[in-house]
Amino acid sequence: MPASQRVAKLQGSHGELWVCADAEEVAAKTADLFVNEAAKAIADRGRFRVVLSGGSTPRRAYELLASAKWRAQVVWNKVDVFWGDERYVPADHPESNYRMANDALLQNIPIPQANVCRVPVEISPPEATAKAYEDAIRDCFVDAGGVPRFDLIFLGLGTNGHTASLFPHSPLLNERSRLVMADEVVEKNMWRITMTAPLLNRGRTVVFLVVGRDKAEVLRQVLCDSYNPQTLPAQLIRPEEGSLLWIVDEAAASLLRA
Ligand code: 6PG
Repeated sequence: MPASQRVAKLQGSHGELWVCADAEEVAAKTADLFVNEAAKAIADRGRFRVVLSGGSTPRRAYELLASAKWRAQVVWNKVDVFWGDERYVPADHPESNYRMANDALLQNIPIPQANVCRVPVEISPPEATAKAYEDAIRDCFVDAGGVPRFDLIFLGLGTNGHTASLFPHSPLLNERSRLVMADEVVEKNMWRITMTAPLLNRGRTVVFLVVGRDKAEVLRQVLCDSYNPQTLPAQLIRPEEGSLLWIVDEAAASLLRA
């Protein structure tokens, strides 16, 4: 592990923190993690089921995964790809999380189209989209007794403390049984489809990717302030039996105590 990367065990249920020198190292460590978790899952269970995050932060990691160094290390026909959340826009829309991942990764790797389980945004209304995605997820886990437990889940962190499309004070924050729901997010002026905390917390390895000085204060709040998930929904993410990992750069970590 390069000297530039510091590792800290966080108190309580916050998991582990990897502090990287910069965004490029966050992306490289993320690509390494993906490769390692894929190898473990495929060896143990024959498949690797991964949940991609949206937003801008993970794009570079996806690009690295599609590059020769990392692409060749993954058995892509045994990988199933899902999204933790999606904007309710067409799949080719500039704001689509599917489109970002397809541009950066999926169209550049030998993954069978049948392994790509995107949110069916062509279905309306949004609630029907969410139900259809939940059904598709459950169908993918029939061999595991129908209990959807993803091997690796990537999440981002918004400056207001949201993660996936779980936004502050949303009624979705209190959901305890549904796996996927739709929410009209006023501050984003759009409908979103999102996995809920119960599903995200079943992940074997749940990883937040946080980069940039603009995330320093919210990261400090999420990790250091008292538990207040209505205001900081990212605090809802506490894997029941899995591990929680924060891969951040120095700028995002700049307000954390040593
Ligand atoms: C989305 C994401 C969202 C994102 C955060 C951070 O659909 O936008 O899933 O939760 O991860 O808003 O976004 P950035 O990486 O762009 O800062």
